[in-house]
Amino acid sequence: MNLVERPLRIVIPGGSGQVGRVLARYFSQRGHQVIVLTRGPHTAEWQTVHWDAETPGIWTQYLDGADVCINLAGRSVNCRYTPDNRIDIYNSRIVSTRLLGEVIGSLAHPPRLWLNASTATIYRHALDRPMDEHTGELGGNEPHVPDTWRFSIRVAKDWETAFFNAPTPLTRKVAMRSAITLSPVPGNAFAVLSNLARLGLGGTQGNGRQWVSWIHEDDFARAVEFLIARDDLHGPINIASPNPERNRDFMAILREAWDMPNGIPAPRPILELAALLMRTETELVLKSRRVVPARLLEAGFRFEFPNWPHAAEDLVQKWRLRD
Ligand SMILES: NC(=O)c1ccc[n+]([C@@H]2O[C@H](COP(=O)([O-])OP(=O)(O)OC[C@H]3O[C@@H](n4cnc5c(N)ncnc54)[C@H](OP(=O)(O)O)[C@@H]3O)[C@@H](O)[C@H]2O)c1
Repeated sequence: MNLVERPLRIVIPGGSGQVGRVLARYFSQRGHQVIVLTRGPHTAEWQTVHWDAETPGIWTQYLDGADVCINLAGRSVNCRYTPDNRIDIYNSRIVSTRLLGEVIGSLAHPPRLWLNASTATIYRHALDRPMDEHTGELGGNEPHVPDTWRFSIRVAKDWETAFFNAPTPLTRKVAMRSAITLSPVPGNAFAVLSNLARLGLGGTQGNGRQWVSWIHEDDFARAVEFLIARDDLHGPINIASPNPERNRDFMAILREAWDMPNGIPAPRPILELAALLMRTETELVLKSRRVVPARLLEAGFRFEFPNWPHAAEDLVQKWRLRD
């Protein structure tokens, strides 16, 4: 069912990546005009417009009179957190968000809604209880956690501050504290974990007690559509399935979906070595993200894939259709 009946103009800065493609496809298939802002060149089935993510340009005219801006711009965090990469990860998010704030604040007809990417990583390492928007605790002060985890939290907090501080009085604002969005396409988290599972390497990671917050791509797009339709919702909103899993269960369910009963576990030292070789960080699998979508559920959003076994089965089936 289309929650939004009128065709909208939806501008997606940074919409050429994994999440952007999910949203651009979802909304263009429903008859909305989608415009992706890219540092390009980037070709797509929808309109793409060049921007540099740092300065105003011709692209600003596409935001004037638009209905919705969904900002996803940011250098991928799937890398080693070297000093240079940290600068890029930080600046690409904060500078682009400030720029959009200045532009939206100056337009004669600004979008009535601005959704800005944020992340479920903003919450603390949580083994004990779920983190929702009301009583969840933001991280950054936990003792005995790696400096890389603290860095990610600082980025997330400053990103939201830049977003909410932007003077855009005519525009409703939602920070999307998203969990890992799972899509049956190469290159994203589902593909990486699936490849491990299919090679017999998809065992428990670390001690397996850490929680995994996740969301099926269909529910991610539906949640964004719901946020567009609901004028009463603003502020930070968790976009995650209501049922995070412990890593050991998450991996066991994924293996089952791939008909791979066994998987060699990866203790922390092995993960550290693998992450070094793969030029990434272990935070992505070792930090405990027990994030739940209280505000979406309170507002009446219904997940199509609230449980990991059903979601994993669906994603594996879609992947097999591609093979
Ligand atoms: N995927 C997830 O599960 C997830 C979960 C939580 C939060 N998020 C956040 O959601 C956003 C979108 O995620 P994604 O997975 O779609 O990311 P992605 O695939 O890495 O795409 C992000 C886009 O940002 C643009 N970009 C890259 N480097 C940039 C830079 N230095 N300056 C400005 N723009 C730059 C790129 O577009 P062009 O090269 O075309 O300009 C890229 O396509 C990200 O900010 C991410 O942190 C994602």
